[in-house]
Amino acid sequence: MTFKELQQYFQSELAPIYPKDETQSLFQIMVMEFLGLDRIALRSSIDLPLKKDDENRLKDLAAVLLTGKPYQQILGKAAFYRLEFLVNEHVLIPRPETEELVELALSTLTSASNSSLSLVDIGTGSGAIPIVLKKHLPLAEIHALDVSEKALEVAKANALALQCPIHFHLMDVLQEPLPQNFDVIVSNPPYIGLDEQRAINQSVKDFEPRLALFSPTNDPLLFYKRIAALVETQLNPGGYLFLEINQKLGPQTLELYTGRLSKLDLIKDLSGNDRFIVGKK
Ligand SMILES: C[S@@+](CC[C@H](N)C(=O)[O-])C[C@H]1O[C@@H](n2cnc3c(N)ncnc32)[C@H](O)[C@@H]1O
Repeated sequence: MTFKELQQYFQSELAPIYPKDETQSLFQIMVMEFLGLDRIALRSSIDLPLKKDDENRLKDLAAVLLTGKPYQQILGKAAFYRLEFLVNEHVLIPRPETEELVELALSTLTSASNSSLSLVDIGTGSGAIPIVLKKHLPLAEIHALDVSEKALEVAKANALALQCPIHFHLMDVLQEPLPQNFDVIVSNPPYIGLDEQRAINQSVKDFEPRLALFSPTNDPLLFYKRIAALVETQLNPGGYLFLEINQKLGPQTLELYTGRLSKLDLIKDLSGNDRFIVGKK
């Protein structure tokens, strides 16, 4: 079988769950990662036959992709804000919207006068948010917490691999206070209510951790209510808040913070959806 024939095989095998464009890029990603060919080498080999072992390997990968498993979990890594993070089934694959959240935080904090501020990321998952922030704010004292021990293992491995000293805490933010008061609170908490589950893509439900996606109750704003209380008690005066939110609940989420912060904005993501709340105490 030639590379071109294998590409066609990917297309027809994955057609039930992926559009054509995506099967093309999945094929390229798998060839690059597992056979070590870059795009240019693939282009010049497209009419050449593969070794039988390589053909079988790629066909096996197509079968795994057909289960809906995200390719980042197959590779064990995901790109985020120009860095590479280890990921597995215990952490949410960091999303492009979250890169925008980090960008919003950095654009405010790098120009803030005191760069030695203290910051906490609530529900850190892979640790992508605090690690990128630490890379860009080296003097900041950065903390990150999660209720999932397995997620924290991944976050700690990422912090070690990317050489970012971060204070990690295993804790349930719905039950316990933050370990100290902070100048900055950042969070992308679970924001899907249990009754919204049916609308979520099956592959996300099958392969990404429920703990990362769903509020433990029918209230999709549960974590935002808790964070609003923490803003009152544990965010230092003059401190900042950066939140990723459920796009369907922009005004309702904003309402929770109204009167608690001196500056407050609801910000859209690049797709035009209500996606972030930025505030200053
Ligand atoms: C939407 S994921 C965000 C992960 C990561 N920050 C990101 O943006 O890619 C939410 C995270 O919150 C954690 N979490 C869920 N319930 C929690 C709780 N009660 N206390 C602390 N963390 C919690 C989950 O384990 C998950 O890692």
